[in-house]
Amino acid sequence: MNQMPLYLACATLLCACSQEAQNPETPSKAELPPVAINAEVEISRAKSAIGIFAAALQTELKKAMQEGGPTRAISVCNTEAIPITQSVASEQGLELSRVSLRNRNPANAPNDWQKPVLESFERRKAAGEDPAALSWFEVAEVNGQHQFRFMKAIPTAPLCLQCHGSAIAPEISARLDELYPQDKATGFEAGDIRGAFVVIQ
Ligand code: HEC
Repeated sequence: MNQMPLYLACATLLCACSQEAQNPETPSKAELPPVAINAEVEISRAKSAIGIFAAALQTELKKAMQEGGPTRAISVCNTEAIPITQSVASEQGLELSRVSLRNRNPANAPNDWQKPVLESFERRKAAGEDPAALSWFEVAEVNGQHQFRFMKAIPTAPLCLQCHGSAIAPEISARLDELYPQDKATGFEAGDIRGAFVVIQ
């Protein structure tokens, strides 16, 4: 690929970004000093970390489902989801999390800049975009430093409905009530946006 001057490449990508997400909290990009971040490189790093993270979660979920069915898998999600997140994050040298507008674990509620992005994903899906292809990024300024933020929507697959759908088996429901009294993560249908991966680097 031709080497475009860095500031130009970034400016191009930032324009694409501000069209993607209208985040009223985000300061206008024009106010930021020249960006010393190559967005293309950061996006591919974020996507690769998400790929590794999603595969690790899925492997663990499938293994637990095979070993002891969904109730056993709930315990594994309960105790392993956050440690898996942390171990992939430290291996990859970035911050990782999963957030949702209808979160199960209270620790997975979106923060001030993540919530409008999740809402923009819902609007983009309603306008016909494929949930599996929804992503967003921005370069923010935090304490005088540039921070690269990336989010990718997580679509709901049929397998997910056993624990996130509308017709959840009574023993699964009982276990979820016990562990997550404030659970908002039920009633999803296949194809809905279950939440999003968040990468900060
Ligand atoms: C066996 C039950 C089970 C299945 C099947 C399941 N989940 Fe979950 N899911 C959970 C539990 C339990 C949590 C809470 C994990 C925690 O405490 O960190 C959770 C949390 C999540 C979260 C984090 C946000 C939140 O609500 O706290 C996302 C995103 C998510 N699940 C997506 C999926 C997707 C996508 C699938 C299908 C590929 C799926 N889940 C299948 C039980 C399940």
